[in-house]
Amino acid sequence: MSIHDYHEAVLLNEAVSFLITDPSGVYVDGTIGGGGHSEKILEKISKKGIVIGIDRDREAVAYSKDRFKKDVSQIQIYQGAFEALDQIVQNAGIEKINGLLLDLGISSHQIDEPSRGFSYLKEGPLDMRMDLQGKMTAYDVVHTYSEASLADLFFYYGEERRARQIARKIVIWRDKERLDSTTDLANLIRGMSSGRFVNKTLSRIFQALRIEVNNELSQLKTALKKGDDVLKLGGRVVVIAYHSLEDRLVKRFFRGEFLSFLRQDMIEPVESRRFRALHKKVIRPSTDEIARNPRARSARLRAAEKIR
Ligand SMILES: C[S@@+](CC[C@H](N)C(=O)[O-])C[C@H]1O[C@@H](n2cnc3c(N)ncnc32)[C@H](O)[C@@H]1O
Repeated sequence: MSIHDYHEAVLLNEAVSFLITDPSGVYVDGTIGGGGHSEKILEKISKKGIVIGIDRDREAVAYSKDRFKKDVSQIQIYQGAFEALDQIVQNAGIEKINGLLLDLGISSHQIDEPSRGFSYLKEGPLDMRMDLQGKMTAYDVVHTYSEASLADLFFYYGEERRARQIARKIVIWRDKERLDSTTDLANLIRGMSSGRFVNKTLSRIFQALRIEVNNELSQLKTALKKGDDVLKLGGRVVVIAYHSLEDRLVKRFFRGEFLSFLRQDMIEPVESRRFRALHKKVIRPSTDEIARNPRARSARLRAAEKIR
């Protein structure tokens, strides 16, 4: 498989230019995926610099290990979720890092592989786990959550206005017949929506399920906190988010507040403001990049420097 078939890195130059402050530093790519960003970091650092690549998806780890087999003196790759970030850094014998990059969400390879169950356009099991050893699948969520919990999930994580109606329909349907595949679920939702907006609804429902299955917002919050703990003063955090829930969390974190993930009106303060944003407005891909890689269209990059 070619590198571009696996995943085309988004906002590549922008992300890496914000990230690197010292060519001999240590940089953590917390979402190595197919290794697009890591490759660029390797290009920009000196022989003394180090990259630590992390991914919770074993396939991504195997792919990147193979891709970078010639660079083992400079890049170490580990399987693990964000909650293990500090432990992984410590086990690598490193005390503090110069930068952390998080390119959130899933890779093209994960979306395109029907057996992973991420896409409503491809028939596959209702799985959606990034780590195939994770305990809960989308099937479990759809079949075991109460109607009220499903409605909350679709409303808060999918920002779907018809959350309650869709949850109701799922619960009625699952009692008669199971929803085994992505297509079963997609067809049920298609049957309730008229024409134009159906794909938007499908994206929102699939997004909500994916966030729940992989505990994505809580993972992000952990990554930011742990990243802060292991980051040197003057070090940088760069995050590329693909939906507003993640982006809002990152923005709040850099401002010294935490947005709680279910209730948007509940703000959890962090001890003090420790970051300074490196740009005024959120950074979006250029129209050229979006034309080349339509999957970049929802990306929003934020970068900040640790100031205390
Ligand atoms: C958008 S892709 C990254 C692509 C990568 N930057 C590249 O250039 O190929 C996101 C990757 O992050 C991983 N990931 C998402 N959430 C994670 C988490 N909480 N812990 C570890 N890895 C995670 C996914 O498995 C996926 O491989």
